[in-house]
Amino acid sequence: QGMMQSMMSGMHGMMHQHIAIQYKNVAQAERPLAIPPILTPTEQEGNHVTYSLTAQQGETELLDGHRTQTLGYNGAMLGPVLRLTKGQQVTMKLSNRLDEPTTFHWHGLKVDSDADGGPHNAVQPGEDKTVQFTVDQQAATLWYHPHYMGNTARQVYQGLAGLILVEDSQEAALPLPRTYGVDDIPLVIQDRYFTEDGRIDYNAVSNPDGTQGDVLIVNGTVKPYITTKSHWVRYRIVNGSNASNFDVALSGHHNFYQVASDGGLLTRPVSLTTLRLSPGERAEIVVDMSQYKVGETAQVTVNGATALAVRIADVADTVAFSPDMALTTIAPLPESDTLATLPRKHIELQGMGPMVSINGRTFSMERIDEQAVFGTQEIWEVTNPSTMMGGMIHPFHMHGVQFRILSRNGQTPPAQEQGWKDTVLVNPDEKVELLVRYERKGVFMFHCHILEHEENGMMGQFEVK
Ligand code: C2O
Ligand code: CU
Ligand code: CU
Repeated sequence: QGMMQSMMSGMHGMMHQHIAIQYKNVAQAERPLAIPPILTPTEQEGNHVTYSLTAQQGETELLDGHRTQTLGYNGAMLGPVLRLTKGQQVTMKLSNRLDEPTTFHWHGLKVDSDADGGPHNAVQPGEDKTVQFTVDQQAATLWYHPHYMGNTARQVYQGLAGLILVEDSQEAALPLPRTYGVDDIPLVIQDRYFTEDGRIDYNAVSNPDGTQGDVLIVNGTVKPYITTKSHWVRYRIVNGSNASNFDVALSGHHNFYQVASDGGLLTRPVSLTTLRLSPGERAEIVVDMSQYKVGETAQVTVNGATALAVRIADVADTVAFSPDMALTTIAPLPESDTLATLPRKHIELQGMGPMVSINGRTFSMERIDEQAVFGTQEIWEVTNPSTMMGGMIHPFHMHGVQFRILSRNGQTPPAQEQGWKDTVLVNPDEKVELLVRYERKGVFMFHCHILEHEENGMMGQFEVK
């Protein structure tokens, strides 16, 4: 049996479709990292803010001397940062100036499903739509992207994605780097294949098992660099790729501190040398730049390749960050006898490529797969059995909630996974238990965040009422 098992795992290795890609070093000069602008409200009255977001077509020069068609929000590619404050009432004026339907999904934001921007919330070409919601969750790094069934993967690959920063007074009082674009740097990391003439052409490179790329782009910049003068630098990292798992590390194998997961702050900084993020996941990390020499160029790496060059001009102290400080309190998990009484839902992630499903079914807009009662909590048991055909990581995402990871294969998850999450990496042959509390109403998606798996039906709906 042991031999059978090692044979099987050998096969999984071989048949694994998502071997970490070796990213290319593009032969052109480094460019300053694009810092997405913070969106200015079109109206603001006390606690009520109004923003306008338009999905549109554009052209971008990603590679020197080559222009490519891209999609963006209020611009040619990617989008501005939506900076929201806990407690705010937000009106979003959405416009679709694409020539095909799209939606505006706020990934990680706890809103009722009518404002969530899932597949039911189509905005047709030429249409304007308004949604409203109240921000009722703690400070966090979230993101937004389209979610129209059949268009999601292509539209994201062509450039539709943006950051959401939720702020609150508790986080604002902490000595964390917080000067946007200076020592608080957003990193929306993606990978793209380019055609020989330097274009992004989704249809030419799309893969039913997830479309990757051999060039890293960060905030839409190829070969980006920043110059820093700060002792402590915070990165808000989004894995905005369609399908790639990113192992984020620092040159010199230095450690760094993860301070937040998908849904907000961890209880205290967690020292890491590698951070694995699957598609859709976010993390905030704080890096001690005094581990490097002034004048040196450090790197943030992804799967061993340079994602960002960091030119160190100085390491002056700007905030009194300490790796030992307490960041927040997170409600303790229920005792095991309470957990034992909670209802369970079973989610089996199945297949690869075009043959993916959840619990043996592919997505239907017309079918509610799971029912849930508002205000209650349940355990979602998510499994990812491998087969003779192999196995792969599936990032499992839920709308309308932030959950906690109770266990991975029966074991307590590592410290950096003990905070709030909305997307969880599920390894082949793993069982992950999630504690889910239903605090928003409506019909919500749960799905694999490999966007092509989602498009191929690896998605279901749960209704909270
Ligand atoms: Cu990031 Cu259902 O999505
Ligand atoms: Cu989402
Ligand atoms: Cu998947």
